Amino acid sequence: MSGLVVTLLVVFAVAGLLRWWRPTWYWLTFGATFAALRVLVRYSSVMDACRLTVPPSRWRMALARFANRPISQPRVPRLLRLRPTRTGLVLRLKLCPGQDAFDVAAATDRLRHSFVMYRVMSQEVRSGVVELRMTGYDVLKRVQMPSKVDRASMRVPVALREDGSVHYRDYRAVPHALTIGATESGKSVYLRNLVAELAKLDVALAGIDCKQGVELFPLARRFSALADNSDTAADLLDALVSRMGGVYQLIRAEQRIAADVPDAEIAADIWDLPDDLRPTPVVVVVDEVAELALVASKDEEKRRDRCVTALVRLSQLGRAAGIYLEICGQRFGSELGKGITMLRAQLTGRTAHRVNDESSANMAFGDIAPDAALAAIHIPPDRPGVAIAGDSTGGWSRIRAPHISLRQVVNVCNRYAHLTPDLPELAPFRPALPHSAKAPAPAVETAPTTV
Ligand SMILES: Nc1ncnc2c1ncn2[C@@H]1O[C@H](COP(=O)(O)OP(=O)(O)OP(=O)(O)O)[C@@H](O)[C@H]1O
Ligand SMILES: [Mg+2]
Repeated sequence: MSGLVVTLLVVFAVAGLLRWWRPTWYWLTFGATFAALRVLVRYSSVMDACRLTVPPSRWRMALARFANRPISQPRVPRLLRLRPTRTGLVLRLKLCPGQDAFDVAAATDRLRHSFVMYRVMSQEVRSGVVELRMTGYDVLKRVQMPSKVDRASMRVPVALREDGSVHYRDYRAVPHALTIGATESGKSVYLRNLVAELAKLDVALAGIDCKQGVELFPLARRFSALADNSDTAADLLDALVSRMGGVYQLIRAEQRIAADVPDAEIAADIWDLPDDLRPTPVVVVVDEVAELALVASKDEEKRRDRCVTALVRLSQLGRAAGIYLEICGQRFGSELGKGITMLRAQLTGRTAHRVNDESSANMAFGDIAPDAALAAIHIPPDRPGVAIAGDSTGGWSRIRAPHISLRQVVNVCNRYAHLTPDLPELAPFRPALPHSAKAPAPAVETAPTTV
C-alpha cells in the first residue's frame, strides 16, 4: 500500500515538475490524455451550456408525439474528429442546421472555461464544418519550436502562433514585409531568428543596419553585403537596383517565348529559369529603417530620396528578380516624408510588436486589419517578442519568436558561411572580415572580433 502511495507521489511530483519546466512534455505525457477524456465525457453537456445546440427536428418531434415518447434532446454539433497535437487538441465539428461559424466563434471563451483549456480558437474548414484549435498551456510563455518543421525553398519558420502552429515567413508567397514595434519590443530578436533560418538556405543576404551595425555586423560572415550608415546604404540600394536590371535582362534572354514552347515553360521570374541559370535570390534586411528617411540638411535630402526611391523600386519590381525586402523600424508613417506610404503599400507581410500608441499600430494594420492594430497596443511590456502578424487577406494572429542570443545567431552564420555567395554587383559592400569569408566549411564558433 505504501509502495502505491510513493509511486503516486512520484508521478504527481514528476507531472508538476514537467508542467512548470517543460510544458510541452507535460502536455504530451499527461495533459493531452486528461484533456481528451474531459472533452469526450463532457462534450454534450458543455455544448448545451455554451448554447451550441439546436432543438430537435420537426420530424423527430412528430415521431415522438406519434409514438407517445418523450421529446428527444436538443441536437449538438457532431464531433467528427479529435486530434491531440503537441500543444493542445483539435476538434472538428459538423454544425447542426441553422448554426453558423460565428456561433462557435462567439462561444470560444465559454468553451475555453468549460473544457479547462488555455485558449480556444475556431476556424471554418468548409461549409458546415468548423475546427476548434485548443491549446492546453500558454505556448507563447517560453517558446519552443517543434523539432520537425515543414521547410521549403524560401519558406522559413520564425515564430510560434498562439494556437501552437508554426509561423512561417514565405518569401515566394509574401515577397516583402514590414516589422514595426516600440524600442525593446523584440524586433531585433525576430530579425535574428529570421537570419538564423535564412543562413541555412541557398540565398544571399544583404543588410542595412544604421545602428552603426551593432545588430548585423557580427553576422558578417553570412552576409554578401552590409551597410552601417545611410550613405553606404544608398549606394548598396542602388547596386541592388542595378542587379535587378541585370536579372531582368537574363530572364528576357532565357524567356523562350517561341510558339512551340509550352506556356508553363515560359520564364517570367527567376523561379521559372532552369536551376543552372537561376540567379541567387537576395533577401535585403533593413533594421531601423527610419534612419534612412530622416534628414538634417539639404544634402541629406538627396541621399534620403535615393534610398526611398530605390526601396520603392525594389519593392515594386524586385519579386520576379528574386530580391525580397525585410524592413524593420519603430515607426513607418507618412511623417517620414515622400514615398514612405507608397513603399509601405508594397510591403504585404505585416508584423507589429508592442507599440505605444494607436497611430503606430495603424502604420502596420490600419489599412488591412483594424482589430489587429488594437491587439498590438495591448501586448504587455513584460512580454517582449510577442507580436501580431497579419497579411493582406485581413487575417492575423499573435506570435512569438523563440529567444535567440546574438552569440547563437553568430554561430549559425559562421557555420553556414560557406553558403555566402559572391555577387559581383554587391562586391564593394562585402564586409571586411578577419579571415576570408569563404572560410572552410567546419564551423567557426566565434564572432569576428573586428569587421
Ligand atoms: N522572443 C523573445 N523572447 C524572449 N525575450 C525577448 C524576445 N524578443 C526580445 N526579447 C527581449 O527583449 C529585449 C529587447 O529585444 P530587441 O533588442 O529585439 O528589441 P528591439 O525592438 O529591437 O529594440 P530597439 O528598437 O531598441 O532595437 C531583448 O534583449 C530580449 O531580452
Ligand atoms: Mg533593435
